[in-house]
Amino acid sequence: FYRAAASPPSSNFLLLGPSGAGKTAFTTLLESKSAPATKKLHSTHTSQTSTLITVTLPPTVPTASNRYRSVNDPSLKEASKNPVQYRLRDTPGHGKLRASQGIAELQAMATSTDTKTKLRGVIFMVDTAALVDETILRDTATYLHDVLLVLQQRALGKGKSSTKRAAEIPVLVAANKQDLFTALPPGSVREKLEAEIDRIRKSKTKGLMDASMDSAALDAEEEDVLGDDDAQGVFGFKLLEQVGIKVDVTGGAVKGDQQEEFGSGVRRWEEWVGMCL
Ligand code: GTP
Ligand code: MG
Repeated sequence: FYRAAASPPSSNFLLLGPSGAGKTAFTTLLESKSAPATKKLHSTHTSQTSTLITVTLPPTVPTASNRYRSVNDPSLKEASKNPVQYRLRDTPGHGKLRASQGIAELQAMATSTDTKTKLRGVIFMVDTAALVDETILRDTATYLHDVLLVLQQRALGKGKSSTKRAAEIPVLVAANKQDLFTALPPGSVREKLEAEIDRIRKSKTKGLMDASMDSAALDAEEEDVLGDDDAQGVFGFKLLEQVGIKVDVTGGAVKGDQQEEFGSGVRRWEEWVGMCL
C-alpha cells in the first residue's frame, strides 16, 4: 500500500531559451536524476519538437509549502515516501521554431484554466559563454523580450476584466554553462540582457510611432511595450514587478552538476522550482 499510485503532478514548468543553451541537456539530467535506473544518453542534437517529462524534486530541496525541511527533519522521510513531482516541457530554441512552439506553448499554458496544464513558472535558459557575441546576445534578448511581453499582456489583460488577479508566473533566467572559463557571471548576464531588451523596446516604440499616423492606432499598441508604456526610463527586470512578474537570474551548470567544483550545478534552479511549488 506504500506503493499507492501518486496523483499525476499538476505543476507545469516551461523551458525556453535559444538554441544551444542546454535545455535538452538539463531535461535529460533531471530525468536521469528522477529515475537513476533508466539512465539515458545526453542528447546534444538540436531539438525540433518539444517534450514533456515528469521530474521528482530531490527530497532535500525545500518547497514553498514546506520550506523548513532540514536533513534531520523526520518529515524528510515522509517526503521521500511521498515525493514532490512536477512536469517540465523542453522546447526547441531555433529561431524558426519559436513562434510555433515555445511562444505558442507559453500562450496556451499561460492562459489555460485547466489545472492539468496550468503554468507555474518559466525557465529561460541562456548560454553565458556565448553572450559576448553580439548576434547571440541580440537573439537571446529578443526571445526573452517576447516571452516577457506575453506574460505582461496576460497580467494586464486579466487584471482589467476581473477582480481576481491572474496567478503570477515567475521567470527564472537560468545562466547556464558557468563551468566554462569564458562564462559571464550571472550579474553581468542580467545587466547585458536588461540593456539589450531596453534597446529592443526603444526601437519597437519608435517603430510604432513611425508606423501609426493617428493616435488611435498608437493607443491600441500601447500594451505591446514591455515595462512602462512610454519606454522613457531604462529597462530593468524590476519594472515588471509592477505587473506581478518576478524575474530571477541565477547561475548554474548542467555539466557541473555531478562535480562540486562548478558552483552548485543545477541545485539553485531546483530550489527555484521548489519555491514555486
Ligand atoms: P536546442 O534544442 O537547439 O534549442 O538547444 P538546447 O538548448 O536543447 O541545447 P542542448 O541541451 O542540446 O545543449 C547544447 C550543447 O551545450 C550540448 O553540446 C551540451 O552538451 C552543452 N551544454 C549544456 N549544458 C552545459 C553546461 O553546463 N556546460 C557546458 N560546458 N556545456 C553544456
Ligand atoms: Mg534541445
